[in-house]
Amino acid sequence: MASYDVIIIGSGPGGYVCAIRCAQLGLKVACVEGRDTLGGTCLNVGCIPSKALLHASHMLHEAEHNFAEMGLKGKSPSVDWKQMLAYKQSTVDTNTKGIEFLFKKNKIDWLKGWGSIPEAGKVKVGDDVHEAKNIIIATGSEPAPLKGVDVDEKVVVTSTGALELGKVPKKMVVIGAGVIGLELGSVYARLGSEVTVIEFLDAITPGMDGEVQKVFKRMLGKQGIKFIMGAAVQKTEATKTKAKVTYKLRKDDSEHVVDADTVLLATGRKPYTDGLGLDALGVEMSERGMIKTDEHWQTNVKGIYAIGDAIAGPMLAHKAEDEGMAAAETVAGKHGHVNYGVIPGVIYTHPEVANVGETEESLKEQGRAFKVGKFSFMGNARAKAVFAGDGFVKILADKETDRILGAHIIGPAAGDLIHEVCVAMEFGASAQDLAMTCHAHPTYSEAVREAALACGDGPIHM
Ligand code: NAI
Repeated sequence: MASYDVIIIGSGPGGYVCAIRCAQLGLKVACVEGRDTLGGTCLNVGCIPSKALLHASHMLHEAEHNFAEMGLKGKSPSVDWKQMLAYKQSTVDTNTKGIEFLFKKNKIDWLKGWGSIPEAGKVKVGDDVHEAKNIIIATGSEPAPLKGVDVDEKVVVTSTGALELGKVPKKMVVIGAGVIGLELGSVYARLGSEVTVIEFLDAITPGMDGEVQKVFKRMLGKQGIKFIMGAAVQKTEATKTKAKVTYKLRKDDSEHVVDADTVLLATGRKPYTDGLGLDALGVEMSERGMIKTDEHWQTNVKGIYAIGDAIAGPMLAHKAEDEGMAAAETVAGKHGHVNYGVIPGVIYTHPEVANVGETEESLKEQGRAFKVGKFSFMGNARAKAVFAGDGFVKILADKETDRILGAHIIGPAAGDLIHEVCVAMEFGASAQDLAMTCHAHPTYSEAVREAALACGDGPIHM
């Protein structure tokens, strides 16, 4: 039995970042992980492998659609799926090994196995019970099941199975037009699959700015993705190689069936807290299965904390990382803080979609007076030079004070561009502050400046 200042259960972005920060603050740390590799869902079967496939399939798309116009002639590349999966895996391996290296460097013990908490102050891994002054639960989430849909991870898959299909399917049905469905749907559409997305609501990507939702859907449609909106999936019936998906249209209750070689279930995720022993400990949970915490990420049981997907808030790796750092600082006697008003969201399709802060819809709901500054990438020279003139930047600012309240970007490198607005918001900047900041020419970021200018006297290139 070993004794630690902190034991973290789970080594995803929340857990491993928390462990490193704890070690940097001089605490004796261990991290429990039952997988063969560190990094959790994000590194092993989520954010990282999907980005590798998005990149590879985007390269193919560029070759097929834009090379000839740039004077790059020749046969388009064909897909060697086995090699693409090997490339994806090598990306994962480099990253998971990187975390193992950081653990060694920071003298963090990796307790291999699945952890449980027999009592406050103790963590059991296999037959060993370890002592910990503080326990931080960072066990993440798992795909939420859908009634009538039996996942076999071969024909009917979650994101995990979709990252290692035996072959590129001819027909793919995606259930749910959220982040996972659209990212992975894009991958397979670019690789030649006929992709149909079935969505319960009337708009894609719930919660996102309404104008972005519309433009985004139109762009994905142009890329060949078909949408069936306002449709509730009832069931799937699968054989070893094919499946039928039955859905009901909400407008008239009519029932329809579509065939698929692969069905991707992407209707949300739920906290993963199985086997931790939280019931017996009396740890309070919300109705939706999330661990309840106070503003210092502590549960109702003293010395037991929780962060990331297992607690309330957006299920995003970077939100978990921020909570991991803040919880580490809290247990080290410092003042951990997360600004939940400035957490960006990014969808890594092409073009990328990114947002931070309020939407026009949320501001209207709050009855707040605001102004909108918008700029199209059509007016951005750099974007036009690389076939990326579709999309726009929209900045929302307080009508009176000009303080930036939110930003929405659909276009090239949106996932990177959003961060200058995040930094501005962290400093309480006005749209004018952003507009007065010199931006290098020619860069995509000029579109952000132009949107900020549009909140004032107007953009230059529109
Ligand atoms: P989601 O919550 O983003 O979207 C699920 C969609 O499924 C919704 O549009 C919902 O209306 C629809 N739906 C629900 N039941 C349905 C039914 N019976 N028939 C048809 N449609 C139905 O969930 P998703 O995409 O599975 O992602 C899960 C979590 O993972 C999210 O919190 C997401 O933020 C996170 N994630 C984030 C990524 C990123 O930031 N790039 C990438 C992947 C996941």
